Amino acid sequence: MKILAFAASSSRKSINKQLVSYASRLLLEDDINQHVNKLKIEILDLNDVELPLFSEDREAELGQPQLAKDFLAKIGESDAVIISFAEHNGSYTVAYKNIFDWASRIKPKVFQNKPMLLLATSPGPGGASTVLAMATTSAPYFDGEVISSFSLPSFYENFDSEQGRITSEKLNNKFKTAINQLTANKHTLPHADKHQVDKQQFDSQ
Ligand SMILES: Cc1cc2nc3c(=O)[nH]c(=O)nc-3n(C[C@H](O)[C@H](O)[C@H](O)COP(=O)(O)O)c2cc1C
Repeated sequence: MKILAFAASSSRKSINKQLVSYASRLLLEDDINQHVNKLKIEILDLNDVELPLFSEDREAELGQPQLAKDFLAKIGESDAVIISFAEHNGSYTVAYKNIFDWASRIKPKVFQNKPMLLLATSPGPGGASTVLAMATTSAPYFDGEVISSFSLPSFYENFDSEQGRITSEKLNNKFKTAINQLTANKHTLPHADKHQVDKQQFDSQ
């Protein structure tokens, strides 16, 4: 199983990148994901798909940029997608909206029927839940199947950046539930029944 994960932020010190990295680590540490699902996770940095600010004039000049095609191909090759959203003025960051707009002109159904886990965090108590709600509501219009979502409020109080983990046990349990829902989902794992059988066999070893 292959997962594409990224923070919808271009900040070098992105707290959403820390959250998405933590989700990836937990998934990779899970024995079932390692041995049965043979999970591989690519963490994409939006700085690597930076394009000029989208406009129809720029599009007429540049056509379909290779970076936007590459972004779509990475989604297309994945079995699931994890995005952690930074919130700027109640909305998406420019970096995310820009690559999304370029990509949508090549393939309007950007998410290509992929199961998705949507995350968000911010330093404030709202935990970027406004942008998370926006992303969750709009995903089906772009053929994204949102399996679960999670917002981490007050990042600096609830996340230990040195250890790279959520410190509140209650929030950590909610987070683990959200990420496990993604890998257990029957669309993420087309052979869900087989997965159960393999899991039982694996547990009894
Ligand atoms: C232009 C700008 C607007 C912001 N607006 C919001 C906001 O609406 N809600 C919020 O919770 N945080 C807001 N913040 C604070 C961000 O949540 C904070 O910078 C966070 O670190 C962004 O996530 P990132 O580190 O993953 O990029 C804003 C920050 C900037 C620079």
